[in-house]
Amino acid sequence: MKLTAALALSILAETVYGVADHLWYHTDLSNVTDWYNEVNVVPGAEPISTYFMTNGFTGGYFGIQHNTEGKTGKTVLFSVWDADDGTKTTQQYCGNLSRCSTFGGEGTGLHANYDFQWTAGVTYAALVHAKPLNNGYTEISGYFQHENKNWYHLATYRRKTESPYLTGLYSFVENPSSYLINETRRANYGNQWARSSANKAQELTVADLTHTSLVDSDRYGSGAKGTSFYLFINGPKNDIPSKTTITRKATGVKPDFDMKGSKGSIKSTQKSQSKRKTTTSKHKSGNNRSVHKKSKTTTTKHKNQSTRKSTRKSTRKTKE
Ligand SMILES: *[C@@H]1O[C@H](CO)[C@@H](O)[C@H](O)[C@H]1NC(C)=O
Ligand SMILES: *[C@@H]1O[C@H](CO)[C@@H](O)[C@H](O)[C@H]1NC(C)=O
Ligand SMILES: *[C@@H]1O[C@H](CO)[C@@H](O)[C@H](O)[C@H]1NC(C)=O
Ligand SMILES: *[C@@H]1O[C@H](CO)[C@@H](O)[C@H](O)[C@H]1NC(C)=O
Ligand SMILES: *[C@@H]1O[C@H](CO)[C@@H](O)[C@H](O)[C@H]1NC(C)=O
Repeated sequence: MKLTAALALSILAETVYGVADHLWYHTDLSNVTDWYNEVNVVPGAEPISTYFMTNGFTGGYFGIQHNTEGKTGKTVLFSVWDADDGTKTTQQYCGNLSRCSTFGGEGTGLHANYDFQWTAGVTYAALVHAKPLNNGYTEISGYFQHENKNWYHLATYRRKTESPYLTGLYSFVENPSSYLINETRRANYGNQWARSSANKAQELTVADLTHTSLVDSDRYGSGAKGTSFYLFINGPKNDIPSKTTITRKATGVKPDFDMKGSKGSIKSTQKSQSKRKTTTSKHKSGNNRSVHKKSKTTTTKHKNQSTRKSTRKSTRKTKE
């Protein structure tokens, strides 16, 4: 497998910070413009400090997170890194329910948070769309689909890219910090599809598993169940070796690539949520990931789970 910049960054970061396992999807399509995935988190397997990353690609990723306690602790996150040569990614659109800002940490770039309180056991979908500008840049958009099938457009970013199309399609489940390290994180990822600029669609039913860990005792697993893959970390035991190739059953049903939703248009269903201002915050922390600002975070050593649990102290870092 080609070691993409995203994978390199991801492995680099995860070796230091977190336990994760990843699925790298096979596709025969050239010129992928659309990348669709569905996620259904297993109830009770979504503790704080989890990133269920659904639509990863070279240069960015998209997924849902549980970051802090309380009623506002979940978010949908869409991130696009700056180009490998340092050229800044620029914002073309920020949805009116998104918090769009720059980030530093594992690379630098732009990201949009949409604070949608997703529910475990419910299936959501995410779509990344790439529009090559034929000048060395590509506009990359992230769309999230709610339970009622309506879509929300988080943001569009313009990135300088080697390939004008989407490459390196992958997903992961990660605990980006060492918080609640013994609690299982588990989700089903299903009905993956890609579509090309020539309007050819392919269902992605085959993926390679990789795994990163902090210590040898870290447990992870993956497999296929019907038309979904599943991924977990910190499970009761390992159930699969890393580097395994996994195949799920096909649905044969093309997704809502054109985002017609249930009402024939791209709409947010989160009207009850208050409008948020777009904020730009700088996090110049070199190779550090910035610590989540919302939580009262204290940094301690994290070798003793029971101590951390009782005092609620730990290093809490979130994926950017
Ligand atoms: C992919 O796109 C390039 C232009 O970016 C084009 O030359 C090529 O024919 C396309 N290939 C396919 C299979 O569509
Ligand atoms: C966001 O924009 C959409 C489309 O313009 C609009 O229908 C909706 O009311 C807006 N929501 C908020 C909270 O401003
Ligand atoms: C990382 O963060 C720590 C603590 O905030 C700081 O002391 C250190 O200088 C940072 N390192 C870099 C490379 O920014
Ligand atoms: C966490 O898991 C590790 C590895 O299985 C185990 O050694 C340790 O005792 C566990 N800690 C707690 C507090 O459950
Ligand atoms: C972990 O914390 C508990 C509770 O504070 C304490 O009894 C125990 O000795 C600690 N274990 C280690 C290995 O520090």
